[in-house]
Amino acid sequence: MSLLAVSNLTKRYRRGGKAVAAADDVSFHIDPGETLALAGPSGSGKSTIARLVLRLIEPDAGRIAFEGEDFMALGGAALRARRARLQMVFQDPLAAFNPRATVARVLDDPLRIHRIASRSERPRQIAALLERVGLTADLAPRAIHEISGGQRQRVAIARAIATKPSLIVLDEAVSALDVSVRGQILDLLLDLQRQERIAYLFISHDLGIVRAIAHRVILLDAGRIAEAGDARAVIDAPRSVIGKALVAAAPRLDRSRS
Ligand SMILES: Nc1ncnc2c1ncn2[C@@H]1O[C@H](COP(=O)(O)OP(=O)(O)O)[C@@H](O)[C@H]1O
Ligand SMILES: [Mg+2]
Repeated sequence: MSLLAVSNLTKRYRRGGKAVAAADDVSFHIDPGETLALAGPSGSGKSTIARLVLRLIEPDAGRIAFEGEDFMALGGAALRARRARLQMVFQDPLAAFNPRATVARVLDDPLRIHRIASRSERPRQIAALLERVGLTADLAPRAIHEISGGQRQRVAIARAIATKPSLIVLDEAVSALDVSVRGQILDLLLDLQRQERIAYLFISHDLGIVRAIAHRVILLDAGRIAEAGDARAVIDAPRSVIGKALVAAAPRLDRSRS
């Protein structure tokens, strides 16, 4: 059974009186512990699909099954419980979190909301989460806006794994980082996946990053799937028009990571 199965997902937006499909009859699945990348040019529908999967927006048509359940039929307590298993990391943690909140507060929220640890246990759990993502507990009292971009993204990952998810949606999660920090965060994601068997829906416009981290890739073009398959096979020899254009535009594809 797939962890996530998306069928015929469609989402239209009105633009100038015309309906534009940001996602157009999109179907895919993700297996446990797998990384599926969504790649494509700006405006191709990557973030729309992420938001649909996370149920931040509702589709016009299509179905989403998560952990064997009809995810769109869930509501109330059942949806909250299932949401703990499906987490997200976005490009800009300064926008995702209150920048004045402390690191401890950002990590305390999911532990409290999902009743993962009692009040007295939570400081220890927060320290353990920080350690898991390569940070130290002395960061806990610092404000989100005071720490570096790489540290912030590690905190975002710590928050995402706090609820023991089976799937994390990462929308351009490393795109804003310097190359060296980006490599460290990708290594962290790979480590966590190996240790916890977490699956990733990894969204990026950068084929070099996709090649380094994803098992499979879907290339999107104007809301439609243009090409899909093994990440390296697709990126090394794209068949679709958009795939060829994206590869030609990629600055240097790092083929050394394997
Ligand atoms: N809230 C919205 N209202 C209207 N159009 C939108 C909205 N969100 C996205 N779109 C349009 O949907 C298309 C896909 O956008 P998006 O999913 O953000 O693409 P990507 O993440 O690949 O850059 C684009 O044409 C975008 O302008
Ligand atoms: Mg986007």
